[in-house]
Amino acid sequence: MTILVAGGAGYIGSHTCVVLLEAGYDLVVADNLSNSRKETIDRIKKITGKDFVFYKIDLRDVEKVEELFINHHLDGVMHFAGYKAVGESVYKPLDYYYNNLVTTMVLSMACIKHKVNKFIFSSSATVYGNNKVPFVETMDLLPATNPYGESKAMNEKILMDTAKAYPDFSVSILRYFNPIGAHESGLIGELPKGIPNNLMPYITQVAKGKLEKLKIFGNDYPTIDGTGVRDYIHVMDLAEGHVAALEKIRPGIHVYNLGTGQGTSVLQLINTFKEVNGIDIPYEIVGRRAGDIPISYADVSKARKELGWTAKRGLKEMLRDAWNFEKRL
Ligand code: NAD
Ligand code: UFG
Repeated sequence: MTILVAGGAGYIGSHTCVVLLEAGYDLVVADNLSNSRKETIDRIKKITGKDFVFYKIDLRDVEKVEELFINHHLDGVMHFAGYKAVGESVYKPLDYYYNNLVTTMVLSMACIKHKVNKFIFSSSATVYGNNKVPFVETMDLLPATNPYGESKAMNEKILMDTAKAYPDFSVSILRYFNPIGAHESGLIGELPKGIPNNLMPYITQVAKGKLEKLKIFGNDYPTIDGTGVRDYIHVMDLAEGHVAALEKIRPGIHVYNLGTGQGTSVLQLINTFKEVNGIDIPYEIVGRRAGDIPISYADVSKARKELGWTAKRGLKEMLRDAWNFEKRL
């Protein structure tokens, strides 16, 4: 079975490529490298010992995408391509809507035209907004506080209407919680450009001495220690969740939370990092970050029941692998 991995040079896409190749799938990978490097493609091949075709193309380009669908007999598409920096989306809304919506439309139109009926989409826990935890797939989505989050909700709607109109089209929407960690080889991992926005790469860069100290955004939330709580998931567990979703895909549109179901606060994460890696993370408490919610974690029962998937790796493994990747850079 041949899968097109759109955005496969990126953080989550590259780990999913490894799991797909190891599960015996053939891959076609397409990425414009706007937030990733060609080297990652070579490293996926090194880890797996398997080869695949890579296209450096922009997935908004209808002609290039059409060419790709003509040249390869595809069975399914996993769509990871998009911009993901929440803060940046506020001052570059058009870039975010244009990239995140048009890639989905171009890819799904090509799927319909070429009868490629399996489509897996990277959504986000951000669509739940400030709902009550744990977040369940049946909850009403709340308006996002930023264009990035809105673009995910809009994508879900576009795919919902498309699945309704084309009954053979099978769509799985995967709502990721907070992916961290790296492949155990340390060859691929998260490579943010510039100063990281997300907590985990910020911590590993402080550990390495690239950044002086972590700023904790608020310690007055109604949580165990006042700092924000998130459901961190090992990126390899997330990658395995995609293969489970592909294997169980069926007509219609089906939404799954991919998380662990466990909440961890910022301070708990820093303390566990020290315990696992023996490195202290200096920090200061600063004001809350605009748009942050206090607590986010998943109800994971639907993915367990319908996909037969649960996250297997614990927080310590996530923190060990994240550091193992950073220290080799
Ligand atoms: P990433 O930036 O590492 O990967 C995205 C990849 O898509 C990059 O390699 C980038 O070069 C490519 N890309 C972007 N626009 C493209 C275009 N027009 N044409 C071709 N390639 C293009 O991000 P990631 O963390 O791997 O996230 C993958 C997906 O998962 C994204 O859609 C993201 O919004 C979503 N997601 C990520 C997180 C997270 O915390 N990392 C959480 C929830 C959802
Ligand atoms: N945090 C800090 N200091 C930092 C960075 C983050 O204290 O320098 C805190 C945040 O306030 C939050 C927690 O660490 O409480 C996690 O923050 P992240 O930025 O790592 O993650 P978010 O939950 O804010 O958002 C991430 C992705 C979104 C995605 C969402 C849900 O950035 O794209 O997870 O999947 F939508």
